[in-house]
Amino acid sequence: MESSNQAEVQNSLEAGLPTWESLVNNYLLVSEARAHIEALQRLKSPKIVKQLRPLMTGLFTLFSGAIRRPNLPDLVNTHWNELVDLASEQVVRNIHHANSNSLTTGMNSSSILNHKFNQLPCSQKNLLERADLIAEYIGCDAPVLLLGDDDLLSLELAKRGFKNVTVVDIDPTIIQRIQHIAAQHDFPIRAKVHDLQMPPSADLIQNYGLIFMDPPCTVAGLKLFVGSALTFCSALRTTKFIACTHSMSLLQPGIEEFRNYLSSVGLRVTAYKPEFAVYPIGKEVRFFLGALRFTLNVLLMRHKIKLARQTVPRFFVSDAVLMQHK
Ligand SMILES: C[S@@+](CC[C@H](N)C(=O)[O-])C[C@H]1O[C@@H](n2cnc3c(N)ncnc32)[C@H](O)[C@@H]1O
Repeated sequence: MESSNQAEVQNSLEAGLPTWESLVNNYLLVSEARAHIEALQRLKSPKIVKQLRPLMTGLFTLFSGAIRRPNLPDLVNTHWNELVDLASEQVVRNIHHANSNSLTTGMNSSSILNHKFNQLPCSQKNLLERADLIAEYIGCDAPVLLLGDDDLLSLELAKRGFKNVTVVDIDPTIIQRIQHIAAQHDFPIRAKVHDLQMPPSADLIQNYGLIFMDPPCTVAGLKLFVGSALTFCSALRTTKFIACTHSMSLLQPGIEEFRNYLSSVGLRVTAYKPEFAVYPIGKEVRFFLGALRFTLNVLLMRHKIKLARQTVPRFFVSDAVLMQHK
């Protein structure tokens, strides 16, 4: 098991966002997945790229709605090798997280999930780890703000004795569900419908001990959530921030853009936790990825490449960034 290895590599770096090279090197260290990774890495060969890229662009154009990345067809054309790296990293991470993370939490029925708002609840195990991480950083009396809560983390925090939990979400269904359960258990949770694109009302601005967020894994999504988090803080600038995100999904230029953004808004990264966030992948997306593997295997037969069943991920495994004011 190489997770501890990865953590060591990360700890030896100065706290900050990892570089693309360190992300790639981390997954290459993992021996259990070597055969699968080698098969995937062969997709970088120019001959194979030439054969596959037009077809992949077409397929991703058809299915980009289902996987909620409308820019995916463009990415296939411009960032092929990085996408192969991203797929390889997820294979490695899935091997680490197999079995222990299958139960989803939060708004977990796909009929309730609102894809328009990028909802993708984390696993039950990860929900508890999220609450543990928050408890490491602040005491139960400190005010906590959750920006978006399809995981229902606010309820878990209140269950553990957090006395001052505020949650905002754009989706009224989530807010009503939290309010309903909080009322049943007499949990001290303030839950409000709020779009992070708008400034917060005055009553929501206070000196939070910690603000937790799970933005869409794009630079635009991160900027929206982190930028908005700053508007909820009082002038004291003592708030800590945790953002779940996935560095590799930002691709190489996106990591640099996010690094520069944090510096421009006066935040510094105090810790980076690779493989922190785990989300069971929905049935529809898994079906698409399975069909993609089948198609690729047919096309790759003449190159004697076979992608194993393990190359279809069951989880999306992302990271967490901890930040403070400079
Ligand atoms: C963004 S989603 C999780 C995204 C996931 N990490 C991913 O990579 O796709 C987390 C929560 O944020 C909420 N949310 C999304 N956009 C929002 C907005 N503009 N304002 C407030 N909440 C928002 C969603 O309803 C959901 O409950």
